Amino acid sequence: MGAFRTLDELNPAGKRVLVRSDLNVPAKDGKVTDTTRIDRSAGTIRELADKGGRVIVLTHFGRPKGREAKYSQKLLVEPLARALGRPVSWVDDMVGPEAEKAALALKDGQVLLAENVRFHAGEEGNDADFARSLAKLGEIYVNDAFATAHRAHASTATIAKYLPAYAGRLMQAELEALGKALDHPQRPVVAIVGGAKVSTKLDLLGNLIGRVDTLVIGGGMANTFLFARGIGVGTSLCEKEMAGTAKEIIAKARAAGKRILLPEDAVVADALAANAPTQTVEVHQVPSDRMILDIGPDSTASVIAALEAARTVVWNGPVGAFETAPFDTATTAIAKAAARLTKAGKLLSVAGGGDTVAALAKAGVEADFSYVSTAGGAFLEWLEGKELPGVAALRI
Ligand code: 3PG
Ligand code: MG
Repeated sequence: MGAFRTLDELNPAGKRVLVRSDLNVPAKDGKVTDTTRIDRSAGTIRELADKGGRVIVLTHFGRPKGREAKYSQKLLVEPLARALGRPVSWVDDMVGPEAEKAALALKDGQVLLAENVRFHAGEEGNDADFARSLAKLGEIYVNDAFATAHRAHASTATIAKYLPAYAGRLMQAELEALGKALDHPQRPVVAIVGGAKVSTKLDLLGNLIGRVDTLVIGGGMANTFLFARGIGVGTSLCEKEMAGTAKEIIAKARAAGKRILLPEDAVVADALAANAPTQTVEVHQVPSDRMILDIGPDSTASVIAALEAARTVVWNGPVGAFETAPFDTATTAIAKAAARLTKAGKLLSVAGGGDTVAALAKAGVEADFSYVSTAGGAFLEWLEGKELPGVAALRI
């Protein structure tokens, strides 16, 4: 991973500190609907302000095409102030005279939120001039936006060339947790990979096989693996054209002495509908007019047994159609088992990705995991073993 500077090495008193956070939260009708990312980002901002820093917060919100009013970040001011327990001032721009004036007017301990960095084409274009203009606002750069670290953008990567750069506390926590889970883990390591499609997780499966001891495959993508083994999957979601790839992954695992856990039994129904009549069958006996919507109790028990024998688990993707009851049964049981083992000090558990976090929250165990990442795309790219530009830029 390489070393990076943290806030332990920074005295921000009296300095203008430019903090790149990821406050890209869900919102509806101009109101933030989930403040998780704001709450998790608040620690760094508060610490810098408490130490006398003059904090200018940069973030993106949504995917605007130019200056689109509905992507203005003004709606973040109030929830951010609430999370910080201190006032937050606002400036309508992120570069230029108005932004510079607002930054220069800050006093020790004050916090300023600037407008959406993506309102400027230079952000996603990773433009050096734009990065330099952003850098003018501050004297120090702190990147706390792990969730945007997979983007090579001006405010996440190039800006680090123009100011002394530090990792914020959330960035640090993400990198430390992820490092413990995959770079230097306690073994055995289990990865649970679910979700709908093999095609979107090929790189991830390829990288994980080299790193973990047991790979659990669940969710819709398991159907493709079963199909590749000649098993009839009825009307289940299945990427038949990926069968060859699935076979290669199985062969690669076998050659490396790794274990792949595929479902042995499944919960089937004739449609994905709440409380649809279900049947539990061996995977070899899926009726031709039924679809697999969850892994069955034997498979669930096998996954839990693998967790009991493991020291580390990395989880991305639910093992069933968890949004619709009762197809959340296996995901919830596995989540609870991982939480119980974590609380008992027997397992380090790291999870990430939007659906996974929602599934853990639904099971009521989010707080019991060792670490739940705030990142979606960045967490996936990290599981793929890719270099994240926002992290690379912080390396010293
Ligand atoms: C995310 O929500 O995944 C990050 O904030 C990055 O946003 P993006 O996918 O629009 O780059
Ligand atoms: Mg995304």
